[in-house]
Amino acid sequence: MKNYYKKDEWQIIEEGFHPEMNRESESIFSIGNGYMGQRANFEEQYSGDSMQGSYVAGVYYPDKTRVGWWKNGYPEYFAKVLNAPNWIGIDISIEGKEIDLAKTKILSFSRTLNMKEGYLERIFRVAVSKNKIIEINCRRFLSMAEPDLGIIRYTVKSVDYEGLLDFTIYIDGDVKNEDTNYGEKFWMEVGKKINGNEGFLITATLKTDFHVATGMKFEFFKDNRNIPVKTDTVEREKYIAGKVSIEIGKGEEISLFKYVSVLSSLNTKKEMLVTDIKSRLMAAKEIGYQKLLLDHIKEWEKIWATSDVVIEGDLSAQQAIRFNIFHINQTYTGKDERLNIGPKGFTGEKYGGSTYWDTEAFVLPFFLKTADQKVGRNLLLYRYKHLDKSIANAAKLGFKKGAALYPMVTMSGEECHNEWEITFEEIHRNGAIAFAIFNYIRHTGDNQYMTDYGLEVLIGISRFWSQRATFSENLKKYVILGVTGPNEYENNVNNNWYTNSLAVWTLSYTLKNIGTLEKESPEKLAALYKKIDFNFPEETTRWEKLISNMQLPFDNVRKIFLQQDGFLDKELKPANSIPVDERPINQHWSWDRILRSCFIKQADVLQGLYLFEDEFDTETIKRNYDFYEPMTVHESSLSPCIHSIVASSIGNIEKAYELYLRTARLDLDDYNNEVSHGLHITSMAGTWLAIVEGFGRMRIKDGKVILNPLIPSKWQSYSFHSRFRGILFEVKVTKNSICVINNSHESLNLIISGEDYMIEKSGKLVLNLKLDFFS
Ligand code: BGC
Repeated sequence: MKNYYKKDEWQIIEEGFHPEMNRESESIFSIGNGYMGQRANFEEQYSGDSMQGSYVAGVYYPDKTRVGWWKNGYPEYFAKVLNAPNWIGIDISIEGKEIDLAKTKILSFSRTLNMKEGYLERIFRVAVSKNKIIEINCRRFLSMAEPDLGIIRYTVKSVDYEGLLDFTIYIDGDVKNEDTNYGEKFWMEVGKKINGNEGFLITATLKTDFHVATGMKFEFFKDNRNIPVKTDTVEREKYIAGKVSIEIGKGEEISLFKYVSVLSSLNTKKEMLVTDIKSRLMAAKEIGYQKLLLDHIKEWEKIWATSDVVIEGDLSAQQAIRFNIFHINQTYTGKDERLNIGPKGFTGEKYGGSTYWDTEAFVLPFFLKTADQKVGRNLLLYRYKHLDKSIANAAKLGFKKGAALYPMVTMSGEECHNEWEITFEEIHRNGAIAFAIFNYIRHTGDNQYMTDYGLEVLIGISRFWSQRATFSENLKKYVILGVTGPNEYENNVNNNWYTNSLAVWTLSYTLKNIGTLEKESPEKLAALYKKIDFNFPEETTRWEKLISNMQLPFDNVRKIFLQQDGFLDKELKPANSIPVDERPINQHWSWDRILRSCFIKQADVLQGLYLFEDEFDTETIKRNYDFYEPMTVHESSLSPCIHSIVASSIGNIEKAYELYLRTARLDLDDYNNEVSHGLHITSMAGTWLAIVEGFGRMRIKDGKVILNPLIPSKWQSYSFHSRFRGILFEVKVTKNSICVINNSHESLNLIISGEDYMIEKSGKLVLNLKLDFFS
């Protein structure tokens, strides 16, 4: 579906209605505000193919695990983000004929996502029958300023019809997930009321007992004047509606404003839901559509002011990067440490809306550089608060004494994924969580976090690595057996280089921080030891042995790290030897064939070289890149961004650009043929990193910002915002200059192409560099 959406700097535009693309577009045009999200389903009736999706952050259902063969240690459930009560519903009919875009004659149709201002708009003209043509302009947004509010303006213009328009404005809680394991519905009704133009429905989730109140209030306008209407009400199980008939004349326009508030028991006491929903609806109507929209746009202005990327000379790349930035910010606002970022955000059901290692490895670095420090801190606290459950999770698998194994997939801190190779084997996630602490502190300088929370998490994870590694008499090395690395096209391998490297790194970093706290605040360290029953130095002595003697597979001939023991025994072939009609291989080949092949789903060794780049010279990184990139099929969205960054780091700008386009337009051009399931929200952060850490080659090292930018030949310039320890700055790179503007009240120290610079507060630095610098 390349080039299906029209290219525009700030908008995604679909022209013409193509029902076969509807599910894809429902994902692409999704809106959200961190608190809730909504796929781009239609307000009015639609009997064609569609995946309904209204989601409320943090509200989930533990769907009983379904597997062919039960294995001890499997979690009891797979958490599912719930398709919540449908709040957008507005049915409309003329003389008994309902408008349904699957049946009604469509004369024109466009759907636009305005990313600058954060709203979705549809404009379409339909002929209900001869002399009954109407045009509908429908705009909706989920307020960034008032996160419980969703607002719809639904304007109907009559082209040649005179008569009654019949509206049914409703909330429908009788919804289900497409991906239920046992076909169950997850909501039950707790209460409802509809009174004239106002009503609410209270539903509760089975098992988890989250209560959600969904309320609506609506009003009609003609010629900017409120028109009084008579509303008939409808009530049935999990459903409320108001029915209104309004006279419309030729050329006239009628606007319906539907104000919706969604409150959940995560934030409002159950017994207060009815009172609060009423007052929220009253407040929304009083503030009114215009002001609510303006306040919402102002919030988006603030977000864009610190996260926008401007690319001159490449509209396709420009549109794509904004699309990525827009969706990440719609998914997570960082205000609530109980929430996290599902790989599909609020755009689909796949991955259950749960938290994966994606958060620490991809999304955290984005927020560290574009948002207030509190956002990154909340992401870390989310894991800190799950430490006890991670210890319990490890204990369930047979680990002892405070060893923490964070879940691969979670909602509440408990593991909720049930494929053995992922649940039991993808232990590299523990390393990402440890590395995130380091990453947060190097960006923010918040050392206190280490003392208050970080070290306890690090020790838990180090204890896990210490127990998970065993000593091989054969190799005379510590080994980590039976794992799955990031490349999920290999299972149960021994000594995955990436996993083992992370284990060693975590142990060293933990020891270093124990040493620091010992010096700076021995009493705090003693209190921590006591709290977690830590035996010093018995436990750390073993860690030291592991650090100095871990098996890190290496090929002495090619001088490359081996993805795992025995990798070279495979038949090594480049991915471009796979026939085009067999790609993606995960949709064409048997699992057995995939596992035996050399093809790599996603960055694995390269993921490690990305993290630990400082430990290797460019030649080493290049050798590994040249070996692994040709075999990588990039069938995980998390892959091309990392390969792009590594390609930039070794100066391979052409390849970096090719991979950049693939990551940036992954969803817009549906590279992996799966956008109908939802968007790849977590890898969108990786796309941003492919510009800033990739082309910009920005690093944070030894308390300084380092820049060594490159520029793709197609681009005239690009600029991005970033922050470092509270200092906001902007970088603009052209083919022959670099400009850095310090937008803060403190001076900024940085190194550009190896030279030290200091930019005064509110100052600007312009360096003219020769073109060949960018080669
Ligand atoms: C990837 C994982 C990732 C998950 C969710 C999988 O396809 O292989 O690394 O965590 O998707 O994004």
